Amino acid sequence: MPVQPNVVERLAIYRFDRAPSAIVDVLDAGSFYAVALAHDLDVFATLDRPRSVGELAAEIDADPAALGDLLRVLAANGYVERDGGAFVRAATTERWLTDDGAANLAPWFTFWRDVVFPFWNEYLETAVREGGPPLTLYEWLNDDPDLWPTAQRGFRAVATLLADPVVDEVDLPGGATTLLDLGGGHGRYAVELCERNPGLSAVVFDHPDALAVAETEIGDRGLADRMETRGGDYRTDDIGEGYDAVLLFNVLHGHDEAEVRALFERVHDALAPGGRVVVLDQFRGGGRMNVGRAAVALVSLTYRATLGRGVHDADAVADWLRAAGFGAVERTGLRRDPGSELLQATRE
Ligand SMILES: C[S@@+](CC[C@H](N)C(=O)[O-])C[C@H]1O[C@@H](n2cnc3c(N)ncnc32)[C@H](O)[C@@H]1O
Repeated sequence: MPVQPNVVERLAIYRFDRAPSAIVDVLDAGSFYAVALAHDLDVFATLDRPRSVGELAAEIDADPAALGDLLRVLAANGYVERDGGAFVRAATTERWLTDDGAANLAPWFTFWRDVVFPFWNEYLETAVREGGPPLTLYEWLNDDPDLWPTAQRGFRAVATLLADPVVDEVDLPGGATTLLDLGGGHGRYAVELCERNPGLSAVVFDHPDALAVAETEIGDRGLADRMETRGGDYRTDDIGEGYDAVLLFNVLHGHDEAEVRALFERVHDALAPGGRVVVLDQFRGGGRMNVGRAAVALVSLTYRATLGRGVHDADAVADWLRAAGFGAVERTGLRRDPGSELLQATRE
């Protein structure tokens, strides 16, 4: 977590501007890299009980002096705590950055470090000067497919955090048996829906090289008899037909209005009469509090830099759904992710 200034520092930095607050950004950037490395090295998983630097170094095969430096950065930023001469993971680290807690967001750090920020380094300036990058992040990943699993594990980490509240709100037609998850990536949302609805089968559709993580997930959850992956481009390739429901989760921000309208028409044709389309995304104006606003701003810049596109207005998206032949459009905010909304509509 970002370093917490004490009272004196808060007054000096934020109240009286006697020290450059920008320096905190540099500390946070270093902290970000330290967390990603700690995840790679299994530091958080291993510190489930207090261990001396020497013990931990032996266990994870690291240099004790250098590991001590890393642990002091993690301690200064609240990720680990001192326990006598030992270190142990903080409760918030256990809860949000390990498999023993509520959700493990560590793969999201790896995704930003190994995929998003290298892409920024190459193309952020071009994107800001020219309105977008020369190729999308997905095209870049298709040229370097070894990075696809890193990206999908990152998306899945966020989905793990949101799957329960999102799936609670998804309103499938009664007796639904078929679901299409377009741009479904890691497949976590479709997996969750299949687990909750024993009569449901699902297709996870994405770029062919993007599906390995979903295939593992489907196998691990014992859902291979009800779930399959299909590779292709959902704008141009056959996506099938007769589905009871189609998910479009976190894909609209990669497309401009014309492309979203065309996609809604394809989805309309792929649904059985009475079928439901369910959209999840960030929308313009989301995130009214400080952290939420900063998150939506960063995500919007990232969409611009990586996809040359951005978030849409939720009212406009609802109108595009109606224009594509959907009715009964419903909007639901998500408390756990203040910048995001679900839009659901029925094929008329
Ligand atoms: C931000 S991820 C969202 C993944 C998942 N739906 C979720 O909400 O966590 C967007 C996904 O859409 C896929 N995608 C984007 N454009 C696509 C296209 N034209 N055809 C197929 N998949 C596409 C990407 O490969 C990626 O897996």
